[in-house]
Amino acid sequence: MNIIVTGGAGFIGSHLVDRLVQEGHRVLVIDNLSSGLRTFVNEQAEFLELDIRDEKIHNVFENFQPDYVFHEAAQTVVAESMVHPTEDCDINLMGLLNLLQASVKVGVKKFLMPSSAAVYGDLEVLPLTEELAGVPRSCYGLTKLTTEGYLRIYQESFGLSYICYRYSNVYGPRQGNGGEGGVVSIFCEHVANGESIKIFGDGEQTRDFVYVDDVVEANILGLNNDVTGVINVSTETGISVNDLIDTLEDIAGTTVTRHYEEPRIGDIKHSLLSTAKAKQCLGYMPKWTLQKGLENTYHYVKDNR
Ligand SMILES: NC(=O)c1ccc[n+]([C@@H]2O[C@H](COP(=O)([O-])OP(=O)(O)OC[C@H]3O[C@@H](n4cnc5c(N)ncnc54)[C@H](O)[C@@H]3O)[C@@H](O)[C@H]2O)c1
Repeated sequence: MNIIVTGGAGFIGSHLVDRLVQEGHRVLVIDNLSSGLRTFVNEQAEFLELDIRDEKIHNVFENFQPDYVFHEAAQTVVAESMVHPTEDCDINLMGLLNLLQASVKVGVKKFLMPSSAAVYGDLEVLPLTEELAGVPRSCYGLTKLTTEGYLRIYQESFGLSYICYRYSNVYGPRQGNGGEGGVVSIFCEHVANGESIKIFGDGEQTRDFVYVDDVVEANILGLNNDVTGVINVSTETGISVNDLIDTLEDIAGTTVTRHYEEPRIGDIKHSLLSTAKAKQCLGYMPKWTLQKGLENTYHYVKDNR
């Protein structure tokens, strides 16, 4: 099948492209390389350096005739969305609308993309389930929540099927240091270099980390399934930032100094996503333990410093 992957030169997108190519699909990557790397793009995929907001997207869709679209390109840095909210909105919403319009025009069968745990905000209920009304604490979370609304309207009004995955904190090889889940790659680099680690808050905030291969698997399950709507993707297992660093120190056989700083605006205290819907609708079952995923990521970061 013909599949377009936006953001396919980035962390999650490039792993997804590898899997789609491996499964024999014809893949076109669209990426402006603002944070992604050309070298991450699978050699068997076609590549176009283009911004998702560009009008040329419509000709590209006409020529390539995609059956499916995976839209991974985004402004992904929560803190950045608070400093430059118009840029965040422009990329994450105007870029989305450009792609949705082009998808409807050429009759795309399904549009699959991430939302984020950030849409929930600081809700007290854990684990977080999809039907809860989220109250985002950041502009990034708000553009993701608005994304979900646009997808619903495009399905209801124009018949475009979709899945919008609320990823928790994704980690793994090729992750940059800036994005949402970048804390793992940042910590890996500091531990590998024997450098001190800066922690925002007391380190007791918890996150639900999911290895990138499990996220790719959820996307592939969505491709081969009639389900449509919003679905969490996580491991439903929380770990504190302090425990995460302990685990990395064990893997590396070293210890590092920790500096505790003020929490950042928009940061969430606890985040744990329910996987019940993903299991029921997609047959999703995360395969990677945190220990194994962190070992892989740590060795990748150490070897690619
Ligand atoms: N990493 C996480 O933990 C996490 C968690 C929740 C949701 N997400 C979402 O998953 C998606 C992928 O995130 P990632 O971690 O792989 O980020 P990433 O920064 O590694 O990848 C994003 C890619 O999009 C490209 N891009 C950015 N703006 C673009 C534009 N205007 N036009 C074309 N290309 C553009 C970048 O060059 C990059 O290759 C994003 O939508 C992000 O919000 C990520």
